Amino acid sequence: MKTISDTILDAIGDTPMVRINRITNGVIKGTVLAKIETFNPGNSIKDRMAVQMIEDAERAGLLKPGGTIIEGTSGNTGMGLAIAAVVKGYKCIFTTTDKQSKEKVDALKAFGAEVIVCPTNVDPEDPRSYYSVSSRLEREVPNSWKANQYDNLSNSKAHYEQTGPEIWEQTGGRVTHLVVGVGTGGTISGVGRYLKERNPTIKVWGIDTYGSVFKKYKETGIFDKHEIYPYITEGIGEDFLPKNVDFDVIDHFEKVTDKDAAIMTRRIAREEGIFAGNSAGSAMAGLLQLKAHFTEDDVIVVIFHDHGSRCPRPGRDAPVRRAVLARLERAGRARRTPHERARLLADFDHARQPPRRIAQRDAPL
Ligand SMILES: Cc1ncc(COP(=O)(O)O)c(C=O)c1O
Repeated sequence: MKTISDTILDAIGDTPMVRINRITNGVIKGTVLAKIETFNPGNSIKDRMAVQMIEDAERAGLLKPGGTIIEGTSGNTGMGLAIAAVVKGYKCIFTTTDKQSKEKVDALKAFGAEVIVCPTNVDPEDPRSYYSVSSRLEREVPNSWKANQYDNLSNSKAHYEQTGPEIWEQTGGRVTHLVVGVGTGGTISGVGRYLKERNPTIKVWGIDTYGSVFKKYKETGIFDKHEIYPYITEGIGEDFLPKNVDFDVIDHFEKVTDKDAAIMTRRIAREEGIFAGNSAGSAMAGLLQLKAHFTEDDVIVVIFHDHGSRCPRPGRDAPVRRAVLARLERAGRARRTPHERARLLADFDHARQPPRRIAQRDAPL
């Protein structure tokens, strides 16, 4: 271990791997190990790829001294980019949606980033959308560079070069399964490719959300827009196919509901003492759904992408609920019945509440 880091960027990576005990005891045969990425300076795995994207762009001459980094981000990538920008002397302009918590926006501003909040309830092609605004800014702001985490392959390269080798070393090469939430695809594709090169029998399983296109595309080759509807779990699932998702590396996609993800996230905090975001809950819940496939000798690595403090809190989510409702209405024109719509919203509300068992236990305090 390095005793003194020259800058905070040197403190990225080498994150701990921790055995999951109570949640999996008697349920999963084999060993379950969580790679806890909240130990990165920006509290998420995204620090790794943010620095990689910046340094590759510098080498390619795309990002020049004094330049401005532009990105559409829901928070974690923005945090990694903002930290690196401070150290390296760049400006940052981020576009985000009004679905994101105020805490996330404030955290980005704390690093000096300019944050433009755009409406959620518009199509990606609408000039007001956070995609369109970031593309317009890239055209208009002199000396600017858009990171584009979805299609920029420096993203998966970071995980091929860092996260994959760390997992291989920490497990002494005994890893048999990788279970990872999939958003841009950078993590699963980079880590999965590295691990399969070391041992082609390793299984790489992606966790997807209901409302995302990944699973159906993997299983049928069909991009089905009817799979798309709003959901709550942040960071995973998509309504398009980012270039960083390498479907050849991924053996299987497992879908997890928002509710199961939220409940599992709370269990991870209360039973394992690890405060992670909802995508970690999704990954653990998906792993449990797949329990029949594991044997005693298996070593299963699951990635916890970010910190629990980044998730919107109960009671603070009225704008999110409004945004979900509005998008449901648009999507509902195509295929949602009023009953399905009501159930989805009920799930949304339920996912925001502590599980009843825990709420009752807490009540006398
Ligand atoms: C909280 C969280 N979990 C999971 C992911 C998915 O990681 P990746 O984009 O590498 O597929 C992301 C990415 O945005 C994220 O922010």
